[in-house]
Amino acid sequence: MKTLFINIKELLQIRDSDIRKVSGSNMKKLPSLKNAFLVIEDDLILDFGLMEDLKKTTFDKTIDASGQLVLPTWCDSHTHIVYAGNREGEFVDRINGLSYEEIANKGGGILNSAKKLQASSEENLYQQASKRLEEVMALGTGAIEIKSGYGLTVEAEIKMLSVIKKLAKNYPIAIKATFLGAHAFPTEFKNNKDRYINLIIDEMLPLIAKENLAEFVDVFCEKGYFSIQQTAEILSAAKQYGLIPKIHVNQFTIMGGVQLGVQHKALSVDHLEVLDTNDINALKDSDTMPVALPSCSYFLSIPYTPARKLIDSGLPLALATDYNPGSTPSGNMNFVISTACIKMKMTPEEAINAATLNGAYAMNLSTTHGSITKGKKANLIITKPIPSYHFLPYAFGSNLIDMVFIEGKKV
Ligand code: NIG
Ligand code: FE
Repeated sequence: MKTLFINIKELLQIRDSDIRKVSGSNMKKLPSLKNAFLVIEDDLILDFGLMEDLKKTTFDKTIDASGQLVLPTWCDSHTHIVYAGNREGEFVDRINGLSYEEIANKGGGILNSAKKLQASSEENLYQQASKRLEEVMALGTGAIEIKSGYGLTVEAEIKMLSVIKKLAKNYPIAIKATFLGAHAFPTEFKNNKDRYINLIIDEMLPLIAKENLAEFVDVFCEKGYFSIQQTAEILSAAKQYGLIPKIHVNQFTIMGGVQLGVQHKALSVDHLEVLDTNDINALKDSDTMPVALPSCSYFLSIPYTPARKLIDSGLPLALATDYNPGSTPSGNMNFVISTACIKMKMTPEEAINAATLNGAYAMNLSTTHGSITKGKKANLIITKPIPSYHFLPYAFGSNLIDMVFIEGKKV
């Protein structure tokens, strides 16, 4: 099945197939064609060019995109969308003055979500997660990473990863699974943390590897959660099974997590709300993608990742949602892009690069996703008629999407 899009006002993020990510000043460029056509065949991009160069052949379907922009779908490289129930009570507690840390210390936070998840059936979890997935697909997300980490027992972690596997099987969207057993210490291990580390290393990891349930491994490397030493132990053990690190670092505390990630050849280091020069230097000359999660900063009222510092040092940056019940109950990449421009002073070009190609890189998907490239997946956002792509972050809160195509299928 061949579909032709004609009269596209501007076709954005056109890249050669060898470009895997964009860094530093190159992030300011967003290659595009004005008055363009695009052809997709089944699940792939077949051809594109200027309207004046369109050859007269037959197509199964023609869509007139006059006044509309076309760009690749968002690549959300950091989410926790498999969870049970919500935590709006904690949200109100924070309004009334408690901190994220104080709520966690009272048995709220991740442990609260773990209790709810352990009590939920796999089917019920699947139903909840699929609603969230469908919501974000309609908002333009065309590839997504999903973490475990609200199970915190062997059984419940496997249950979460099985839900992710089932989502990947049933939906056309590319889904990457990350094992985050090291998200928090369960209460019963509070006084014997080594035993929980051993449970992860001796029981969870071998089972996950055997059943092929995850490609990546994550650790919440933070004060009160997993230390540098504990994170290093888990990453080393996970490496034996071929799991690639993507880790939570520098959300509240600078403690060497960035350097550790780089040493362990992490695909990405995520959060980075607090960052110093040593962290920046560690990332230079590495293949590790820094990932910012501005919706989390917004929701928790914590600092935003210093995007200018990172990009102006020549580094790449990716943007993701962090969709989860505690720190970011939103999976809207459009809001992420607006917030990155408004609060982190990223230009629209930088934000779109960060949310497409660099997001794809942070999931090992940049050979198939993240740009308008012949042979890549036919993942497209068709905007409503808008004056320019600057309007996307500018008109924050408005839904500017007319249609979304994922692997050639209209959502
Ligand atoms: O990425 N920081 C750790 N994990 C999540 C939040 C977890 C929660 O509060 O449920 C995050 O922000
Ligand atoms: Fe997270």
